[in-house]
Amino acid sequence: MKIQTRIALACLLMASALAAQTPSQTATVIIRADQPGPVINRNIYGHFAEHLGRCIYEGIWVGEDSSIPNTRGIRNDVAAALRELNIPVLRWPGGCFADEYHWKDGIGPREKRPAMINTHWGGVVENNHFGTHEFMDLCEQIGADPYVCGNVGSGTVQEMMEWVEYMTSDADSPMANLRRANGRDKPWQLPYFGVGNESWGCGGNMTPEFYADQYKRYNTFVKNYPGSKIYRIACGANGGDFNWTEVLMKNASRRMNGLSLHYYTLPTGNWKTKGSATDFDEAGYIATLVNTLKMDSLIAKHAAIMDKYDPQKRIGMIIDEWGIWTDVEPGTEPGFLYQQNSMRDAIIAALNFNIFHAYADRVAMTNIAQTINVLQAMILTDKGKMVLTPTYHVFNMYKAHQGATSLPLALSTPNYEHGGKTIPAVSATASRTKDGQIHISLVNTNPSAPATVRCEIAGLEKQPKVTSGQLLTAPAINSVNTFDLPRVVEPKTFSDAKIADGTLTITLPAKAIVTLVLE
Ligand code: AHR
Repeated sequence: MKIQTRIALACLLMASALAAQTPSQTATVIIRADQPGPVINRNIYGHFAEHLGRCIYEGIWVGEDSSIPNTRGIRNDVAAALRELNIPVLRWPGGCFADEYHWKDGIGPREKRPAMINTHWGGVVENNHFGTHEFMDLCEQIGADPYVCGNVGSGTVQEMMEWVEYMTSDADSPMANLRRANGRDKPWQLPYFGVGNESWGCGGNMTPEFYADQYKRYNTFVKNYPGSKIYRIACGANGGDFNWTEVLMKNASRRMNGLSLHYYTLPTGNWKTKGSATDFDEAGYIATLVNTLKMDSLIAKHAAIMDKYDPQKRIGMIIDEWGIWTDVEPGTEPGFLYQQNSMRDAIIAALNFNIFHAYADRVAMTNIAQTINVLQAMILTDKGKMVLTPTYHVFNMYKAHQGATSLPLALSTPNYEHGGKTIPAVSATASRTKDGQIHISLVNTNPSAPATVRCEIAGLEKQPKVTSGQLLTAPAINSVNTFDLPRVVEPKTFSDAKIADGTLTITLPAKAIVTLVLE
């Protein structure tokens, strides 16, 4: 019997022995600190910012002459809030926008840059004031690595090749000299480059066979100039399109470092009427969580296909668009995808992180859609005002897991049921940082009943101490932060975790997320 199988069996026996002694609203967790798993790639906490609605313009870029305090045109309040999250990587310029973006329109003196129409997102005029230099400046200001997505759908191979040369070459070459003429002497580091976005849809409506060939062609000209080594990301599947992954892995896997996957959580599961961001009942709440938990089986199935062609797990699964997508806020421009963000969204973020950690051997990066004012945003702005969303707080509470070693766990949990739908009430994840701290994050999905969690940590030499804890909960599952009431949903100190006789007992309030630090 494999050692992992024996551990799993032992955990199950221990968990069921614990469960047998405890009442039904009690979950049991066995954390195997003696059997560390893979490192949780810090890029799992990545972001995505597209030229869409008020994400880039107003959300990030206000221009140097704005009355909103800014540094070289990038607003200071937003940059400071994003710095706090330790964002490892930021994807730009799209999304669907990437496949109609022509980078040369976004360099040089701003007043001379040509305008274009953003046909995907509201048909608004894009003045190209936020381009390559401004994006790289944003990444430097917030401490994130850039992940640029190139244009396969409406751009040429030459255009993509020249963009990479412009950004990363230090030679005495035409594009490097153009960059110098625009005020940047040294090349930037560009660790991640995407070859097209959603090439099965807005990026060109291609078949996987056709895209695999296009990928190989475009990628050939994405050069590694001296001092630059680019991690190449191929466009991956739409949700459950497993054939896309099969074809890409079969035909092009030798030439890629990462393969993407896009999956959005729709409350209703229906693109025509997705459901409201704030006006939902308990049936809408559980239906949304059922849909978000599908991320688990999607990753498992795509990973199984990747394993077939890449058993060494060299290629990263890059979930570069995920999050909840609701109907837009009533009265706002439909093409701007602006939605409020509630306690439900915070639970969605935490559940997804717990899933991503469980697949840390394959999931190398994820990028939530999107950072500001679009879909499941961290930050909402109204001109000079800014508010942090419940999702922001989850990213902040979970950031200690970035780059930590995952610790396998066996969880036995009661269910949360409503209206014929059933999901686990408790979700959990654990990791150990380089300095030996253990971080445990727990979610109670049940909106009305608390849950007790009894947790054992196997393999520690001495009983640890809980040194700190944070709790995120709210008066209601649809509670939100607004510009008038910005602190309705925000983390509080959590002290309802006690260790006695080797067992850590935690009482999770209803609809809550808790993170604990143990030393
Ligand atoms: O994130 C919004 C859009 O969703 C992106 O532009 C596109 O890639 C996806 O369909």
